[in-house]
Amino acid sequence: MFETRITQLFDIKYPIICGGMYWIGRAELMAALANAGGLGFMTAATFENLDDLRAEIRKAQDMTDGPIGLNINLFPALRPQPIEAWVEIACEEKIPVVETSGRSPEAIVAPLHAGGVKIMHKVPGVKYARTVERLGCDAVCVVGHECGGHPGMDEVSTLVMVPATVDAVDIPVVAAGGFADGRGLAAALALGAEAILMGTRFMATKECRGHPAWKEWLVNSTEADTAYIMKSIKNPSRVAKNAVAAKVMEMEAKGTTLEELLPIVAGQGGAVFDDGKLDSQLASAGQAIGLIHDVPTVKELIDRMVEEAIQSRERLDAAIASA
Ligand SMILES: Cc1cc2nc3c(=O)[nH]c(=O)nc-3n(C[C@H](O)[C@H](O)[C@H](O)COP(=O)(O)O)c2cc1C
Repeated sequence: MFETRITQLFDIKYPIICGGMYWIGRAELMAALANAGGLGFMTAATFENLDDLRAEIRKAQDMTDGPIGLNINLFPALRPQPIEAWVEIACEEKIPVVETSGRSPEAIVAPLHAGGVKIMHKVPGVKYARTVERLGCDAVCVVGHECGGHPGMDEVSTLVMVPATVDAVDIPVVAAGGFADGRGLAAALALGAEAILMGTRFMATKECRGHPAWKEWLVNSTEADTAYIMKSIKNPSRVAKNAVAAKVMEMEAKGTTLEELLPIVAGQGGAVFDDGKLDSQLASAGQAIGLIHDVPTVKELIDRMVEEAIQSRERLDAAIASA
């Protein structure tokens, strides 16, 4: 029913992908995505040690015959990251595709390809997408300003970012930032993308790790309830607008330094996601929260999105035919 270069390349039924989600994207969510015809990326950096990562990958693989992806975040972290070991694990555990992000994947393209692993690199701008193509990655994911996690410095919305990227590169483009339903899926395909990638929407699913209070917040919030912060230290992030985000915004408005911000922004997520203490830490979330009204299973969500995409196509057909 859906056939794009991404569904062929990643061998998935639907062009619907879940990006890496630090801390909460665990085996249950990854397996549910694969079983529902999509693909999810487990964030390697979530795990304290390599054995734990390997065990979680195998746990996910045991729960499905579908693909389990791995997210390798290359952003310079406070402690050194075992990038080479993550690459080895991806190859040894027969991960079909890795999502890289954070900075250039140049150093790991050849070893991943040698191990039979495909690479989709995620970028927040058109110029970076051109580099991704030059480096030989198999696909590029581009995020717009709406996205949860790390939008770019230039504040370009998904509606402009996606077609501009499609025009700039020949490799398949995956659209991300603000998608939450089948209308968005149809729109992304119409813009020339060959799949969508979501993070925020998949947080509000039954299989995603997360305290009920956090999921309730996702359901009850509006599109205006996120904050775009940390542009002043060149690490822009979109997060839930909670007390910590408000404090960061206040400090940035007055003028602040990386050193002053670090103690406040360090350690994203655990207490919010696991304990439901919503004002205790920063927590990534995108503007798509304004489109979330329930907490379905992953399969219910994907099936519904497919149905909505078909309805959107029919609406489009009718509108164009009657024009
Ligand atoms: C809670 C959360 C954690 C995330 N963690 C990561 C991560 O570890 N690595 C990464 O590359 N992207 C991460 N992202 C970004 C997502 O993979 C994805 O690019 C983004 O959520 C897409 O935009 P959307 O939230 O509007 O769907 C995270 C996003 C969220 C919401």
